[in-house]
Amino acid sequence: MRTFSFVASALAAASVVFAQNNTYVITVGHNTTSNASLVFQPQEVHAVVGDTVIFNFTLGNHTATQATFAEPCIPAHEANITINGFNSGFRDAGNGTAITILSVPILPQNVNTTMWFYDYNTCGEGGVGVINANDSSTQTLEGFERNAVRLNGTGSLTSSSAASSATSPSGTSGSASSSSTTTGKTSAAHHLVVGSLSVLPLIAAALTL
Ligand SMILES: *[C@@H]1O[C@H](CO)[C@@H](O)[C@H](O)[C@H]1NC(C)=O
Ligand SMILES: *[C@@H]1O[C@H](CO)[C@@H](O)[C@H](O)[C@H]1NC(C)=O
Ligand SMILES: *[C@@H]1O[C@H](CO)[C@@H](O)[C@H](O)[C@H]1NC(C)=O
Ligand SMILES: *[C@@H]1O[C@H](CO)[C@@H](O)[C@H](O)[C@H]1NC(C)=O
Ligand SMILES: *[C@@H]1O[C@H](CO)[C@@H](O)[C@H](O)[C@H]1NC(C)=O
Ligand SMILES: *[C@@H]1O[C@H](CO)[C@@H](O)[C@H](O)[C@H]1NC(C)=O
Ligand SMILES: *[C@@H]1O[C@H](CO)[C@@H](O)[C@H](O)[C@H]1NC(C)=O
Ligand SMILES: *[C@@H]1O[C@H](CO)[C@@H](O)[C@H](O)[C@H]1NC(C)=O
Ligand SMILES: *[C@@H]1O[C@H](CO)[C@@H](O)[C@H](O)[C@H]1NC(C)=O
Ligand SMILES: *[C@@H]1O[C@H](CO)[C@@H](O)[C@H](O)[C@H]1NC(C)=O
Repeated sequence: MRTFSFVASALAAASVVFAQNNTYVITVGHNTTSNASLVFQPQEVHAVVGDTVIFNFTLGNHTATQATFAEPCIPAHEANITINGFNSGFRDAGNGTAITILSVPILPQNVNTTMWFYDYNTCGEGGVGVINANDSSTQTLEGFERNAVRLNGTGSLTSSSAASSATSPSGTSGSASSSSTTTGKTSAAHHLVVGSLSVLPLIAAALTL
């Protein structure tokens, strides 16, 4: 496995850019005014090996947590121990003042693997999305979102609580943070070593956060 020093030296050789690998940015939390389906924009991306999917947390307090189709609002690793899914943990971007990213490189072992994901704070209202859905499968994004609302929500796809979590993220002066509920790996660190060189500056920026 390559190490961080590799990243650093690659940064030094900044002229080395492999533009062929694509980066897809999913904006998290931006403009969700009354619709939790908009927590992830876009909700669905298709990426190939060597590409990188970046979650850009721009507003409010959200997570990007990998799940399984059958259990949309539970970390994938808890639902199925063999899946070492990504999990950003809570990222509070405030009112756009503390923007952070989570990079998810598409690794060779993940080719053609569908990665479902959700936001802990809006999952039950439809705050979910997917990387590499199988378009021939009956497991669709719409079905995943319905599962999330059915299992963790009130039955309605929209909720103003999505908006409130986005616009007033620091509402409660909570004592104990519930970070233990999303303790999964901050897998950006595990995965970035094989990420696209073209996004190394972004990854390095994330490491300093
Ligand atoms: C927010 O979303 C609404 C509805 O999708 C759209 O009409 C509006 O232009 C968006 N505002 C911004 C600032 O993106
Ligand atoms: C919420 O946003 C999704 C995605 O843009 C859209 O398909 C849906 O119609 C919206 N729902 C409402 C109630 O506006
Ligand atoms: C794309 O990424 C893969 C995996 O990281 C790497 O092996 C490959 O060399 C990259 N290709 C280009 C053209 O950058
Ligand atoms: C994340 O969003 C912010 C605010 O819109 C933007 O300035 C920044 O360039 C975005 N980051 C990425 C990696 O797209
Ligand atoms: C758990 O995930 C693996 C793939 O990582 C899959 O092969 C297996 O069928 C899954 N187990 C269950 C019970 O869904
Ligand atoms: C967030 O920022 C916008 C634009 O600067 C501002 O209009 C709004 O009042 C701010 N909201 C909060 C809750 O600080
Ligand atoms: C991934 O899926 C595509 C489209 O179905 C297929 O062409 C390709 O061979 C698959 N790759 C692997 C490694 O299975
Ligand atoms: C969804 O509901 C299940 C079962 O009650 C619970 O274990 C899980 O923590 C909930 N997920 C979220 C994001 O609230
Ligand atoms: C996609 O779904 C179809 C139908 O269930 C299945 O035959 C095919 O193998 C799936 N493709 C992948 C890459 O999982
Ligand atoms: C983010 O949301 C979680 C769960 O709702 C909460 O425990 C945590 O305190 C929130 N973080 C901030 C900074 O408000």
